[in-house]
Amino acid sequence: MLKDQLTVTDNRTGRTFELPVTDGTVRAMDFRQMKVSDDDFGLMVYDPAATNTVSCRSAITYIDGDRGILEYRGYPIEQLAEGGTFLEIAYLLTYGELPTRAQLEEWTREITFHTYVHENIKKFMEGFQHDAHPMGMLVGTVAALSTFYPDAKRVDDSESREKQTQRLIAKMPTIAAFAYRHSLGLPYVYPDNELSYAGNFLSMLWKMAEPKYEPDPVLERAIDVLFILHADHEQNCSTNAMRAVGSSRVDPFSATAAAAAALYGPLHGGANEAVLRMLTEIGDKKRVPEFVKRFKAGEGRLMGFGHRVYKNYDPRAKIVKETADAVFEVTGRNPLLDIALELERIALEDEYFIERKLYPNVDFYSGIIYQAMGFPVEMFPVLFAIPRTAGWLAQWREMVQDPEQKIARPRQVYVGPRRRKVVPIARRNAKRRQAA
Ligand code: CMC
Repeated sequence: MLKDQLTVTDNRTGRTFELPVTDGTVRAMDFRQMKVSDDDFGLMVYDPAATNTVSCRSAITYIDGDRGILEYRGYPIEQLAEGGTFLEIAYLLTYGELPTRAQLEEWTREITFHTYVHENIKKFMEGFQHDAHPMGMLVGTVAALSTFYPDAKRVDDSESREKQTQRLIAKMPTIAAFAYRHSLGLPYVYPDNELSYAGNFLSMLWKMAEPKYEPDPVLERAIDVLFILHADHEQNCSTNAMRAVGSSRVDPFSATAAAAAALYGPLHGGANEAVLRMLTEIGDKKRVPEFVKRFKAGEGRLMGFGHRVYKNYDPRAKIVKETADAVFEVTGRNPLLDIALELERIALEDEYFIERKLYPNVDFYSGIIYQAMGFPVEMFPVLFAIPRTAGWLAQWREMVQDPEQKIARPRQVYVGPRRRKVVPIARRNAKRRQAA
């Protein structure tokens, strides 16, 4: 009997199977040979929400949730956030290696070259309602980009993949800023290609009558660090959407729109907004113990705490906390910070949170920073989508070149009625419509 094998006995037939174990996984398809009769389809595995299913082999992001480790391409996030710029890290995610100075200059030039959007995209965005949610605008506009770049359909052509990667990373801040200005009824600001990636984004958001916008270097750096922290997080909901939709060989603009739509949901990109609401509701440091008691009794959750993967301090949360201190030096202290700090202190000493390994996650402090910088909560998922585009694209590029991947198509267990006879409409009895 080999050590790296799983022995499975099917008690329905008494047959025994040896399944190879590779990298801590068994192949779901190996179960298909287990049948009770010749016409049996074979055994399948049931895993709603894919909580224990590995869907790909990936060399992009490594997470050890128990130890609180996050690495992009093998580099710890702390090191990358300390010295790197977002475009450098986007290069690393895309190509697997950190760029040399010359490579970074070329990459920056290429991205900067693509920051402008077609004037018709601007007109398209002007068509949204004045109070349209900026994330809805982003999702719709990214999908619309595919109609401007029909060459993006050539997903098996590496040159085309290169071009679309650069276009998407370059145009996301432009679309995001246009969406923001639209919601304020302000004219859109065109990209300033003399500024950095983050600096240009701030210019497109906040430039008013001044001939040249000078971004505050602390805020520019804070945005860059937050972008680095949010750039990738392995197979989360939106990345899974990117891969699943991209597996149909649709163009990357349409796949990115699908990924952004997944990020729009409150369980994914909306948690930092929930943190702000919670902190506002608590309202005063003195009320923290009372709220902690409520969370322990199951009356709501302590938002920004706990994670499906991290059972330790989310390494990104530490960096966000440090970034907050720098930002508040410029913007003034967000009064919600004191409540957050007290909440963290009390929760981390509490048996309930210790036992369940609940620690602050990346969203605990990011919303407080964004609010202090002047962003409305509707912009939070948009601010997440900009850097995550680099991660989505790296994952998409890996997926389309992986010979093991095919169109993503899970199975189901059918539980509805079978072989019913259609009754002519005149003879049907009224049955209650099932609430969806
Ligand atoms: N406050 C209070 N109790 C909690 C919390 C919390 N934030 N999170 C988990 N628990 C308890 C939960 O009630 C359960 O207790 P018991 O064992 O007594 O039933 C136990 O901890 C395990 O929870 P779970 O629901 O099985 O954990 P999960 O892995 O399914 O959920 C989570 C992870 C992030 C959805 C959850 O911790 C949560 O709802 N947190 C608050 C929302 C939040 O901050 N989300 C942002 C996640 S980070 C964003 C990203 O990386 O994309």
